[in-house]
Amino acid sequence: MTDHIVYEIDNSGIEPMSNTSNNPTFSEILTHRRQFLKGSLGTAVAAFMGTSLVACGGDDNKKKSNTSSSSSSSSSAPASSSSSSSSSLAPLLGFAAIAANRNDVITVPAGYTAKSFVPWGTPLTGSLPAYKADATNTGADQEQQVGAHHDGVFFFPIDAKTTHTNSSEGLLVMNHEYIDDKLFHKNGPTLGATRPADEVRKEIAAHGVSVIHIRKNASNWEVVTGSPFNRRITSGTPMDIRGPAAGSPLLATKYSPNGTATRGTINNCGMGATPWNTYLTAEENWAGYFVNKDATQAREHKRYGVPNKNGRYYWELADSGADEYVRFDASTKGATALDDYRNEPNTFGWMVEIDPFDPEGRPQKRTALGRFGHEGVIFAPAVEGKPVVCYSGDDSQNEYIYKFVSAEPFYKATAGGWLLNTGTLYVAKFNADGTGEWLALDVTNSNFTAKAAAAGVSFTNQADLLINTRTAADLVGATKMDRPEWGAVHPSTGEVYFTLTNNTARTEAQVDAPNPRANNATGHIIRWREDADKTTFKWDIFLLGGDVGTVTGTGTSAVTLTADNHFASPDGLLIDTRGVAWIQTDMSGTQQGSGPYGNNQMLAADPVTKQVKRFFVGPIDAEVTGVTLTPDLKTMFVNIQHPGDRSTPTSFTSSWPEGGGARPRSATVIVTKNDGGVIGS
Ligand code: FEO
Ligand code: CA
Ligand code: CA
Ligand code: CA
Repeated sequence: MTDHIVYEIDNSGIEPMSNTSNNPTFSEILTHRRQFLKGSLGTAVAAFMGTSLVACGGDDNKKKSNTSSSSSSSSSAPASSSSSSSSSLAPLLGFAAIAANRNDVITVPAGYTAKSFVPWGTPLTGSLPAYKADATNTGADQEQQVGAHHDGVFFFPIDAKTTHTNSSEGLLVMNHEYIDDKLFHKNGPTLGATRPADEVRKEIAAHGVSVIHIRKNASNWEVVTGSPFNRRITSGTPMDIRGPAAGSPLLATKYSPNGTATRGTINNCGMGATPWNTYLTAEENWAGYFVNKDATQAREHKRYGVPNKNGRYYWELADSGADEYVRFDASTKGATALDDYRNEPNTFGWMVEIDPFDPEGRPQKRTALGRFGHEGVIFAPAVEGKPVVCYSGDDSQNEYIYKFVSAEPFYKATAGGWLLNTGTLYVAKFNADGTGEWLALDVTNSNFTAKAAAAGVSFTNQADLLINTRTAADLVGATKMDRPEWGAVHPSTGEVYFTLTNNTARTEAQVDAPNPRANNATGHIIRWREDADKTTFKWDIFLLGGDVGTVTGTGTSAVTLTADNHFASPDGLLIDTRGVAWIQTDMSGTQQGSGPYGNNQMLAADPVTKQVKRFFVGPIDAEVTGVTLTPDLKTMFVNIQHPGDRSTPTSFTSSWPEGGGARPRSATVIVTKNDGGVIGS
């Protein structure tokens, strides 16, 4: 290793906070903080519950009397005055909660089976190169194998475009967020003045997305070998840039002088399935993969935390000097932007649409949805003749939650990705009284332009605004949140739920009603209901993470976490078609190792009663992230990311899934109920 490079590969997955805006937290404008907090939370809950909950046919004004002995305190009170009477409904969650544990296996409730599936390195396309247990596969191999660090995932039934009912064959599409460089190569990464190009090629190929055609034969799910649908999309795959920012001079590069194309998608975390059955993959912590050594960084780099010393894995130092690698150095080098890659980072930070049923189709970056650390995206149920609505969180400390509303109405017969090219991007402001507002980020909106002018900030056009989405959101007074992760929409009530994973940077002075705890190490889940005009909403806090005894709410609506459901750092989230909320956790290795929660896990919740039960515990030092079900709800796919991520090249802290001391590998887990029933019932 040369002495002029200090290698500090950061695998925390958490971008350093880059929101230095003066945009105040609620409490900064209040003088009696504690009184405010106490009062405002109560007010917020009251405002939210003043709107009628319609889930699950509950009859109004009856208190649920929970007769369960195993998790009584978790569900001893109704979520609202209109919560249903348990006597008239079968319980949503029929399984026995499992205990937290620190085992290097998957744990599921009695009566369920969990099997690993399609781990990192599974041969998928081309010559189907076999996975090598000593991690000596080449870059070319990796381009034909399932990627690393499984994350957001969705099962598209093979008949998705028509009847959408097939539960025995489909396309399993999943993200590959990043790599553990120490486990990814036999001896860890080779670090010097340059890096071996094939190591870089392999790392780039392990990122991105896999499309995997799968079929159930008898009781086992198998990859359909040789299927034309099997596909790898990587951090090097050519893709188009579409929507208002396409063609902007700020996206022009040596590769795409007209600013309409780029190569690859990076750090794909959560996802969203569109109402027209395509897959949107989110670009989350992409900024760290680049380096810009300019003395002064442009706002479209600085506000996103592009490093000024080196990229996360030093891809810019590949010894071949090939254009596809040097592009990760965004320093100004040439005479103009067409001579270098100063704008390359601007082509990342978007939601990217992939049609898994079109294996030749180029992925499309949908710029109208904004540029930030997209965790994922969740669509409200599409309504014929109405605009398409989706929500996306920006997962960094003190960042925001956004909503996109299409300009054109949805019609099932003609719907497509074009609907995401025009529309309005909004950012959320959560008021202390339980109301909220969607603030338009639009250069033609007079409210927006007035605030921008008052702050002395300008955007040349909507493309400039979208490329600088975070800066635009700062101007309008959006609410700084505790790291927004996944969202979910309840299928019958339309309520939107968002996980706020944690925020240890929030100070006492920054506590506000929607983010009510300083040094929030355990996170919470917020939810809202849109008002009729769709520009305002009512919100409340659904659940606070924490140890046994943590209480959410007050009075008769209070719920208390127990040993059956205590959790921290909620992240992945899905509400299935039965209305079960599946909550996944992403605790750090330290939080898992030293806290009371055990390994990362998945809990099932009834959004109406707030009954919560632990359903799944992952292996050692892994994240449980990404969950999807077949239409019949009888097969669940759950992703396990970075098992053993505190390993060294010679000492593994996990050997999941193979066991026996094998190198740990991210993989999918298939969960079924032994009696063939619905998962969670
Ligand atoms: Fe990739 Fe915000 O988790
Ligand atoms: Ca992760
Ligand atoms: Ca996540
Ligand atoms: Ca996370």
